[in-house]
This record gives sequence, structure tokens and C-alpha cells, in this order.
Amino acid sequence: MLELQEVHTYYGKSHILQGVTLTVPEGRCVALLGRNGAGKTTTIHTIAGLVRSRRGSIRLRGRDLQRLAPHQISRLGIGLVPQGRRIFPSLTIRENLTMAARQNPQNPGHAWTLDRVYALFPVLKEREKNMGNQLSGGQQQMLAIGRALLTNPQLLLMDEPSEGLAPVIIDQVGDTICELKNTGLSILLVEQNLSLACRAADEVLIMNKGRVVWQGTPAALLANHEVQHQYLGV
Ligand SMILES: Nc1ncnc2c1ncn2[C@@H]1O[C@H](COP(=O)(O)OP(=O)(O)O)[C@@H](O)[C@H]1O
Ligand SMILES: [Mg+2]
Repeated sequence: MLELQEVHTYYGKSHILQGVTLTVPEGRCVALLGRNGAGKTTTIHTIAGLVRSRRGSIRLRGRDLQRLAPHQISRLGIGLVPQGRRIFPSLTIRENLTMAARQNPQNPGHAWTLDRVYALFPVLKEREKNMGNQLSGGQQQMLAIGRALLTNPQLLLMDEPSEGLAPVIIDQVGDTICELKNTGLSILLVEQNLSLACRAADEVLIMNKGRVVWQGTPAALLANHEVQHQYLGV
């Protein structure tokens, strides 16, 4: 579905991504773990076209994304659930959801509609006339996920969906991610929460200083305390 080869990204003179190579197979959830500052968000932003890479290749189903604008990349089927949710505080829940809604001609059989998002997250329907800033953190996360789903993506980029949420809400986010995977959606899940990542992902990558330094199954990572300690500070 998605393939990055030796991707290098800079902020000015700062060389942040130093040759990132990773693959998200179709219908799979791949988790990207790593400490603060490892380059996880930069990886997500580079894929989404919000930051330009200088070298390497990024392909979605074989198609080169590198010269495309963010809206073009979105239209090709990549949805983004950004770090910090980025809800519009002075729009209603419904407006937040529908502003990005779009049919995806590449994905006609799995059309996400407002009703389907409300069925997934009933609390959003109950509160659809509330303003974005009246939601709890967990509800805001549901809204951010629902908004991305309404662009009808084939690949979902999720940047730390558990950040700032209580454990019971993190479990619900985990349920949602597993449910979405079961619909056939491919997911790149950036996380700092090891147990959430290992529960939802088929494969785990660890990033450190702008590179992927470890790769394996969730079971292999959970059994490897040395790697957890070295790269995740667990
Ligand atoms: N807009 C920016 N300008 C300059 N440096 C940045 C910018 N955004 C992030 N960085 C730096 O890039 C590195 C990677 O950041 P980021 O990708 O946000 O890491 P992570 O998401 O893994 O915490 C950090 O050293 C951070 O300070
Ligand atoms: Mg980040």
C-alpha cells in the first residue's frame, strides 16, 4: 500500500529524517514507536505532503507522491488524524466532520458517511450541535478519527491518538483501531503507548534519531526488554 525508501527530510539545515525505509502492506496496521523527537511526526507529515522530503521515494500503490500537494495526496486516499487532534473549536461537531467529507472514487464500496461515523461513535451524534471545544479529550479524538474517515481513505495515518487520554479511553481508541483494521483499512499508527501499539499492530517499527532502528512483531518487542529500555525508555 505504502512504501518509503531512504527518505530524507530537513527543517532548514536540520537533517531530521536520515533515510527512513518502511512499508505498510495492504489491510495491515504498522505501528511506529519512538521517543519524543525521534522523527515520527515528521515521517507522517512527509507522507502527507505537509513537509517535503529532499531525497528518497514515497509511493502509494506504486504511485510517486513526492511532488504532490497535501490535498492531492489526500485525494489519492491518505487520511490524517493529526497529533493533538486539531479540532476547530468554534465549529460544531457536525461542521468539523463534514468540512472535509468526500467520496473517494477509488473506494466506492466502503463509503464512509456521516451516519456511519455516528454509528461508530454514537456520542458524536448526541453532541453534534456542540462546539468542538466542548468535547472531552476522548471525544475530540473520536471526532478527529471520524473527520479523517469521511475523506474515505485507504490508508490512515494516526499520530499519537492516545496522547493525553485516560487509560479506559485509550482502550476504546484501541478497540476503534482494531475495528477499522477489520474493515480493510491500512493504518500507520504512531504511538508512544507500547501496549496500545502492540495490541493494534501487525508489525512494529522503532524510530530513533530519524531512522528505523528496530522492526519486528508485537510479541517480539514485548519480549525484548533491552530494546524497550534502549529506545522507548520503558
Ligand atoms: N517545524 C520544525 N522546525 C524545526 N525543527 C523541527 C520542527 N518540527 C520538529 N522539529 C524537530 O525535528 C525532530 C523530530 O521531531 P518530530 O518529528 O516532531 O518527533 P516526534 O514526533 O517523534 O516526537 C525534533 O528534534 C524536533 O525538535
Ligand atoms: Mg510527534
